[in-house]
Amino acid sequence: MTMNGREMSSGGRLRGVVLAGGRGTRLGCITRVANKHLLPVYDRPMIFHGLEAMACAGVREVMVVVDRGDLDEYRRLLIDPLEHGLDRLELGEQDGPKGIADALAVAESFVGGNDAFVLLGDNLFGTSLAAAAQEFAGSRATGMVMLTPVENPREFGIARFSGSDGRLEEIIEKPEHPPTDLGVTGAYFYRPSVFDLIRGLSPSSRGELEITDLNNAILSRGELDWSDVEGWWADAGTPDGLLRASLNAADRGVNGGPARRSLVHETGGDPY
Ligand code: G1P
Repeated sequence: MTMNGREMSSGGRLRGVVLAGGRGTRLGCITRVANKHLLPVYDRPMIFHGLEAMACAGVREVMVVVDRGDLDEYRRLLIDPLEHGLDRLELGEQDGPKGIADALAVAESFVGGNDAFVLLGDNLFGTSLAAAAQEFAGSRATGMVMLTPVENPREFGIARFSGSDGRLEEIIEKPEHPPTDLGVTGAYFYRPSVFDLIRGLSPSSRGELEITDLNNAILSRGELDWSDVEGWWADAGTPDGLLRASLNAADRGVNGGPARRSLVHETGGDPY
């Protein structure tokens, strides 16, 4: 199957969940009036790149989880699943910024008995995650995280490995003294049993259900795999990250697609 000339996985029973809640305060006062994931990354709303990431990974059915207060904007923007190479596109409603794992719990009945590809809506990838989806489908793990070297490891979840056998031992959220520079990106693959594990989590000191606590819970059972990200990655949740995401999208392309600058200049408009 191809989309915009790109190879896509034919997919199995994998449902997509794009998480687009949160306050987005690191992007400043614009987030008082606009949800972060609606801001443009180069030529189109950030959330469109995430939906494309889903389609490129072979996912046909996606739920976008948004804060209740942002529902109207999303209803106006996300009109037709086919625009995004999807068959089904639903909105899920999160009741305030209670954390990434809490947002994922909103999608429990949507995911049902299927595996889930979960993406933080502010994470952008230069390549398609189809190979990662296939790797997870062929594994026995309960979860899989995607790692990439980062320049600022104090700002992300960071992987710590065992000195003796190189096994992933722990993910440390925004460590003061990072043990490595390997950041945990916001793309996660889970079996449906993940929702039981979320029910076992307690809120962190900032009162949220943390995705890192969820991943560490899976890790402590010996059921978390990891894989390397190929190509560029950006967390567009900060001014620098948003700029990097836009420049990379323009000049190198997103989700394995062509440089978007060339698409914009060819079509002169809003190319899907
Ligand atoms: C979240 C996760 C963090 C991860 C990051 C990736 O952090 O908690 O582990 O490395 O996304 O973008 P946030 O950006 O919400 O602070």
